[in-house]
Amino acid sequence: MNFSVHRIDRPGLNDNLLILADKKNLSWVDPVLNTSELSYLRHAADNNIDIVFFPRENKCLIVHFTGNNNKEQELYRRAGNKIIATLSHYKVTDISIVNKTGIPLLCDYLEGMILGGYQFTKYKSGLQDSFKGPKNISISKEDLSQKKLTDLLAVLFATYKARDLVNEPQSYLTAVKMSEEIEILGKTCGFSVETFDKAKIQALKMGGLLAVNKGSFSPPRFSVLEWKPKNPVNKKPIVLVGKGVVFDTGGVNLKPTQGALDMMKCDMAGAATVIGAMVATTKAKLPLHLIALVPATDNRIGNDAYLPGDIITMYDGSTVEVLNTDAEGRLILADALHYAKKYDPELVLDFATLTGAAVRSLGQHAICYMGNAAKSVKQMIEKSGETVFERLVEFPLWKEYGAALKSNVADLKNIGGPTAGQITAGKFLEHFTDYPWLHFDIAGPAFLRSPDSYRTKEGTGVGVRLVFNFLQNYTNA
Ligand code: BES
Ligand code: ZN
Ligand code: ZN
Repeated sequence: MNFSVHRIDRPGLNDNLLILADKKNLSWVDPVLNTSELSYLRHAADNNIDIVFFPRENKCLIVHFTGNNNKEQELYRRAGNKIIATLSHYKVTDISIVNKTGIPLLCDYLEGMILGGYQFTKYKSGLQDSFKGPKNISISKEDLSQKKLTDLLAVLFATYKARDLVNEPQSYLTAVKMSEEIEILGKTCGFSVETFDKAKIQALKMGGLLAVNKGSFSPPRFSVLEWKPKNPVNKKPIVLVGKGVVFDTGGVNLKPTQGALDMMKCDMAGAATVIGAMVATTKAKLPLHLIALVPATDNRIGNDAYLPGDIITMYDGSTVEVLNTDAEGRLILADALHYAKKYDPELVLDFATLTGAAVRSLGQHAICYMGNAAKSVKQMIEKSGETVFERLVEFPLWKEYGAALKSNVADLKNIGGPTAGQITAGKFLEHFTDYPWLHFDIAGPAFLRSPDSYRTKEGTGVGVRLVFNFLQNYTNA
């Protein structure tokens, strides 16, 4: 993130000024605008023009009518996203923002502005920054506390990182490379990282991860990230688990649907979520013992690729009949979920682009979630979902759904029937848990073909803001 946000005492008319205002209350304009400017502003207000640009000698003044009678945070994030186009158009590199609406909306506005200004430029010729907005942003001290600003920048930095990881193609981001990226982040943010190489994964007998990796010529990795501050509020750790399939061809059950393959670099978005959550938590120094597990491989066709009908022995000793090599995510997650048992965790949250069924049921606007954690935890995470506008819909894990996983030859098979695929996938994962647990299928919102306001195209970093908000509330509960 190559920009900075400063809190200053009194943003003044000598700066490029962005005034957030309510069109029904123009009492602040007097020293700022002359009569003809004011009459133009009134005209704009009457005609639903919400951004007005006034050129000044060397400087500019922008008025943005964000509204003030709507308490929805999402409205202000969307407004923040909208100003980016104006600022880029006029090539504004320094801006001071003043909030005259009377509503404490600056945090959300900044959030939308910074998220909406994200761009993935690594492979574009010429120097281009990851943020296309102004390099120096000043805000008035009274509009945002230092603590809130620090936390906001922590979670936005983490979301940028998650988006970058998803947007990286497999030609760069192999499982090995991802584990190296995790190690670098650990060093810069302050969490510890242990990386298991293939030999260690073999020694542990992580049969799910090894089976999926068989068709690949690059080895798997299993990363263990840990943040353990001095006085954590939790005695037993919270464990995050993220699906790290750096590319999913489907294996020999090659993905048949038109357009399905071209976005499958996104199949490590669950890993990106938990890495991002770890980055945000450590940058904000939340007093929480947090662990993240990332099993990583690609899923390919290859001479030695695993095949339908193969029976594999998982890390927990269960046998699984593989009936579709495209249902690979649950195999690598299952090994990580079993590994999580050793921590006797207070709570485990797993994130995965797991099923097409999740996409079909809710599209890009919500996350399918399910699990056995306490009602109070579910209420907390749903509330976080509303707050950050990454909304959750719970699906049931009734035992009847588990019947679809019965195998004639093994303890279970890796696919269910033709219906409720996101639930049968959840039932499969449940088999490998013995602790309070929630599973989040983010296949819908993780990757967008075209932008949705501040959710920029391709990797969205979904889940990072959700988990961070949840953990913030968890530490305060
Ligand atoms: N990675 C896919 C799920 C996916 C679909 C992610 C669309 C993002 C967008 C997953 O590994 C998969 O292929 N699941 C199969 C499972 C089936 C074979 C039981 C699916 O949902 O079709
Ligand atoms: Zn798959
Ligand atoms: Zn997959």
